[in-house]
Formats: sequence, structure tokens, C-alpha cells
Amino acid sequence: MIPMPARIIAVCNQKGGVGKTTLVTGLAEVYTQMMGKKVLVIDADPQYNTTSALGLSGPEFTLNDVLYGDESNNQKIFPGVAADAVLEVGEDWQSPNHSELGLIASERNLASRERDSMMAREHRLRIALKGVAEEYDIVLIDCPPSLGLLTVNALTAATHALLVSEPRVASVEGLAEIVTTIAEVQENLNEDIDIVGVVVNKVRKGRKDQDVWIEKIRTDFGELVLDPLLPDRELFAKAQAAAKPLKSFGSEAKVLRADLEQLARAIWKGSEA
Ligand SMILES: Nc1ncnc2c1ncn2[C@@H]1O[C@H](COP(=O)(O)OP(=O)(O)O)[C@@H](O)[C@H]1O
Ligand SMILES: [Mg+2]
Repeated sequence: MIPMPARIIAVCNQKGGVGKTTLVTGLAEVYTQMMGKKVLVIDADPQYNTTSALGLSGPEFTLNDVLYGDESNNQKIFPGVAADAVLEVGEDWQSPNHSELGLIASERNLASRERDSMMAREHRLRIALKGVAEEYDIVLIDCPPSLGLLTVNALTAATHALLVSEPRVASVEGLAEIVTTIAEVQENLNEDIDIVGVVVNKVRKGRKDQDVWIEKIRTDFGELVLDPLLPDRELFAKAQAAAKPLKSFGSEAKVLRADLEQLARAIWKGSEA
């Protein structure tokens, strides 16, 4: 049987704090626990929030090692080498229905990879994932808050980009910049990449200042704006800080999980081959 090419989704916005990590962990939760999918999460942010949120601390082998390549062989990057870096997530995240969640972790030193000048530097994640992504239904890459080499590696490896924004000026301006970067990647590195959608996060009801920015995002992105908009809820921060899935937090979490499931289904449908 020929393996199906996986959906590889780079979750991005070069502004920090907009909700990339929240979305990656939230989607990983609903894909594995509510939709029975096999998921690989790649933490490409040197701040390693996703690694921590999924219950790992101080992992020995990380994306940094993967991208650095083979030290004894001129830093060559071997196709499929990412398979060696897939770690099991914390116990709270392992799902009862046997679908799987794997993590390629991050660490502080990953920041050094932004300055790499070795061969194939934009393609190293894509090469490392060869034959590995196909083992999963969906791969979610949490991008760092910059448009440097790590984000470019993510976009070059990805089949789709998922944009995240808050309804506020800095974050919406960030969207325009990332769209330009995606267009450049499309032209030079990965002609197959598409934008699968825009998630608007941290929305508060009845905030006129936010409405202006939501309207602006809708004007710019039309049908790419995914439903529902995600509400501003303390519980997201609480779950992330506790390194637990939303499921652990009772009835309030149910509503948020339902929101995330709707987004997950829209992303699944939008990324069909
Ligand atoms: N919808 C939300 N409501 C409340 N807090 C949120 C929401 N989304 C994210 N947060 C919190 O805001 C902070 C930044 O979010 P995070 O997902 O880490 O952003 P990024 O990865 O883009 O830097 C975190 O503390 C997170 O828990
Ligand atoms: Mg983050």
C-alpha cells in the first residue's frame, strides 16, 4: 500500500502570545482524543512552550539535534532522521482510545539553528520528515514568533499554513507579513503550500475595538477565517501552565473542546488532498 501523504500544518504568526501553542496543543488533544487521529507535534519554537505543555521537561534529543545533522559527516541531514527524535508525551496526554500523539521536542539551543548556513538550510526539516510524516494522519508544527529560518523550515516542510491572530493591531499586521513570507516560500522553496485558514483567538464579546480588527481579518481573508472564533478564557492559560489537556478541567473545558473540535474538522476538511 502506498502511504497517504500526511497533512503537515505549520501554525504561524511571528507575533508572540497570539495563541499558536494553545492551538497546537488544543488541536492535538481533539485530533487524538475526540477524532481518533494519529498526530505528530513538532515544537519549532526555542521557547519550548509546547514541549512543556505536553508534559516534557529537559528532553535529551530535540529538533535542535535533528536540524543540526550528522556532526561526523559534514552536518549532512539524513532523510527520515526525524523518526529518531519522536518522544512520548506526558501521561496526561496519552489517550485512552489508542490513537497516538508523538512529539519532536524543542530546547533553548534550537535558537542557534536560526543562524545556520549549512547546505540545504531551508529544507532540513522537510528532508528530516521524509517517510516519517506519512506515519501520521496529521503533523502540527508550532512555529516560533519570528519569520527566520525555523519558520521557513516549517513552511518548506508543510502542506499547509494555519494562521493565528488576536483581534488587535500588532497581531493583524503580523498576518500581512506572514502572508508575504508564505508567498516567497511558495515561489522559491515549496510550491505546494496553501493557507488552510485563519483562527481568530482571544475574542471578547462586545468589545468594539476588537470588532474593527475582526472585520479587517474577514475583509482580508474572507472564507479562510475559520469558525468559531476562539473566546478569551482563563482556562486556556490554566491548562497550559498545568501542562494538562483541557479534558482535565471539567464542564467549562467541554465548551472549549467543542470549539476546538469544530476548528479541527474545518482544518481537516480544508487540507484534504
Ligand atoms: N483564548 C485564550 N484565552 C485566554 N488565554 C489564552 C488564549 N489563548 C492563549 N492564551 C494564553 O495566552 C498566552 C499566549 O498564548 P500562546 O498560545 O502561548 O501564544 P504563542 O504560542 O502564539 O506565543 C498563554 O499564556 C496562553 O495560555
Ligand atoms: Mg508559542
